[in-house]
Order: sequence, then structure tokens, then C-alpha cells
Amino acid sequence: MRLADVQAIPSIGFSDLLVVGAPTHAFSLSRPRTRADAAQHGAVRPGATTVGLREYLACLPLLTGLPAAAFDTKVTKPALPGSAARKAYRRLHSLDCHLLLEAESFHVDGMTGPVTDGELQRARRWGASLATAALPKAVVQQGQTLLRVRETKAGQLSDIGNHRWTQSESSP
Ligand SMILES: Cc1cc2nc3c(=O)[nH]c(=O)nc-3n(C[C@H](O)[C@H](O)[C@H](O)COP(=O)(O)O)c2cc1C
Repeated sequence: MRLADVQAIPSIGFSDLLVVGAPTHAFSLSRPRTRADAAQHGAVRPGATTVGLREYLACLPLLTGLPAAAFDTKVTKPALPGSAARKAYRRLHSLDCHLLLEAESFHVDGMTGPVTDGELQRARRWGASLATAALPKAVVQQGQTLLRVRETKAGQLSDIGNHRWTQSESSP
């Protein structure tokens, strides 16, 4: 699995699965202005205000048939409508990806976290479901990597789906 920051505009290459994640900002994917707002609330990674998942997805070519999934983080309270993951899901769909799961949101307690109790476990289950959904669709060989792109400043969910395939898992 390769974990890449959208800021590096990672190439999709010969990936078997693309998983994108981003924080929900203003009911959707972040924009330069909302990322600048986020920088007022806490440390963000260098360059985070310029490139986010929205900008990354906008510059990708058609990805016909590529298995993909999207998740986001959002605050528990107040419960707000909208979701970065749903926006990303729609964009991946328009790029002709094969979406394996519905867009999923994981909750944080406030703007700067922490991750709400139980959400990391739920995120791991989501990652496991994704792996199960991806298995029949990918030609998986031992040690093959998955590509996940995560727009984050805190990396709180960086272990979701952190999984190296083994030969036995790839057997039918
Ligand atoms: C400018 C801004 C706008 C936000 N808008 C929303 C929102 O519309 N809905 C929501 O649930 N959370 C919203 N949040 C909270 C973020 O989703 C939360 O801070 C983020 O998921 C935490 O992940 P991170 O540490 O990777 O940034 C917003 C945060 C900021 C800074």
C-alpha cells in the first residue's frame, strides 16, 4: 500500500485500488479558503492551503474501471449536512472509477479532533470491507501495494486499510 499526500500530485500508475480521504469543509471538499481557515485552528502540513483533494481529483485523467472508494472526517457536533467523501465519490464516478463502497464519514470530536470514540474501530472495519470488496476485482499478488490518497493535516486515520496482501488472501 502506498500512502500519498495529494499535494505531491501522486500518479495512479498501475494501482489496483484508489482510496481517497479528506476532511469535510463547508459541507464538501475543502477549498483554498477553507484550508486557510483550518490553518487558523491548528497546524497544517506545509502547502496544505494550495492543493487539496478537490484540486487533485480535478487534474486526474479518466480512470476507467479502477476500483475506488472515498471517506472523510467530519465533526460529531453539531451534526452538519454535506460530506467531502460524497463529493469525492461523485468525482470518482465521473472519472469512470468502479466505486466499491458508498462514501463513508468518520467523526471527530471537534475541529482539531480527537477522533470520536469507536470511530477508529469503525474505520478499520470499513477498511476490511473495502479489502473484501476489492479482492475479486484485483489481480492480487503477494506484496502488491494499494494506493491510498489522504488529504490530512493530522494523519489521524493513517492506519485505515494499512494492509499488505498475502498470497493466501489473493486465492479464490
Ligand atoms: C473551515 C472549516 C470548515 C468545516 N466545515 C465542516 C462541515 O461543513 N461539516 C463538518 O462536519 N465539519 C466541518 N469542519 C470540521 C472538519 O471536518 C474537521 O476539522 C476535520 O474533519 C478534522 O480532520 P483533519 O484533522 O484531518 O483536518 C470544518 C472545519 C474547518 C476548519
